[in-house]
Amino acid sequence: TAAKPKAELRADRTAVPVGGSVTLTCSVSPSSSSSSSSSGWKYYWYRDGKSYEALTNGLISVSEGGLYSCRGGRGEPVYYTEDSESVRIDTTVSNRPVVTLYPNWSEIYRGETITVRCEIHGGDTEWDYEWETNSTIKPPNQTEYRIRSASSSNSGNYRCKGRMKSSQNNTNEWSDSVTLTVSDNKPRPVLTVSPSWLSPGASVTLNCQVEHPSAGWSFYWYKAVPDLSEKSSSYELLPDGSGTAQDSYIIHGQTHTAGYVCRAGRGDPEYHTDHSQPKFVWSAESCTWIYISTCPHTEP
Ligand SMILES: *[C@@H]1O[C@H](CO)[C@@H](O)[C@H](O)[C@H]1NC(C)=O
Ligand SMILES: *[C@@H]1O[C@H](CO)[C@@H](O)[C@H](O)[C@H]1NC(C)=O
Ligand SMILES: *[C@@H]1O[C@H](CO)[C@@H](O)[C@H](O)[C@H]1NC(C)=O
Ligand SMILES: *[C@@H]1O[C@H](CO)[C@@H](O)[C@H](O)[C@H]1NC(C)=O
Repeated sequence: TAAKPKAELRADRTAVPVGGSVTLTCSVSPSSSSSSSSSGWKYYWYRDGKSYEALTNGLISVSEGGLYSCRGGRGEPVYYTEDSESVRIDTTVSNRPVVTLYPNWSEIYRGETITVRCEIHGGDTEWDYEWETNSTIKPPNQTEYRIRSASSSNSGNYRCKGRMKSSQNNTNEWSDSVTLTVSDNKPRPVLTVSPSWLSPGASVTLNCQVEHPSAGWSFYWYKAVPDLSEKSSSYELLPDGSGTAQDSYIIHGQTHTAGYVCRAGRGDPEYHTDHSQPKFVWSAESCTWIYISTCPHTEP
């Protein structure tokens, strides 16, 4: 004798959208080769173990979450198929999560620290969190993912959703995704000095340019101090030249040829760029300095 046929339940989505519905389809296999209407099955639906509806076609549209199953029946007395597998349909709640970055820089450098956070506003509801990303390293299922020392394995798109702790069948939609890019390059700022020739009484302006200029950088300003024995130079922090918010720095009363260097830093713990190449301001009388190779050949 043939095995008892089994009902099969399919859902077009796993959660009822806000104000919408989910279509469930019940079918009996092995299905007869003729059309379903002539097969004589009636479809019995169950929600959370209780009888829900009985319909002559296998399609039903539901707008409440729950654990659904179905079976077919026909004849008199009714011959029932085996029950389908149960399908959990969640209810979508309207508070949509948002992924935020702290600090809010979408491009960061290897070794920087950044936190990716899933924020769900509304009430004092407690949530379980779930992340989806195409990065190599997966965040744990928590509201906050702190990346202490970023690498390119953290690059990717991130989105999250929540499930109510108190009522596990209530979820919300996926947030929009946020892209995090971790660059393996160490940035090196570019310093400009103007004017490049000293004139009595005039000030000199240093300007430090870094990639992604608005993204939280502060600046460090140094004078290059030549060390004749080492044929090199060391850097001496300029007065009030530590961590300025401005990307420019003004020097008054400089009378001799001098070299300057800058670098930038941001974050907590602070991440530092490389030092810029040194740049010089020249005094007319002296071009006999350690950086002789970079001495300009002509005076203006
Ligand atoms: C919610 O889920 C629980 C199990 O997680 C289940 O027992 C309960 O029937 C569900 N309630 C509704 C209304 O879906
Ligand atoms: C980052 O946050 C700062 C202050 O919190 C804000 O002024 C800036 O517009 C934000 N930038 C981006 C790209 O969201
Ligand atoms: C997070 O939860 C989802 C769904 O419960 C699961 O598929 C995934 O593996 C979990 N991820 C981690 C990193 O635990
Ligand atoms: C993640 O997906 C986006 C869009 O599909 C793609 O542009 C990006 O390169 C992917 N990133 C990784 C790390 O796979």
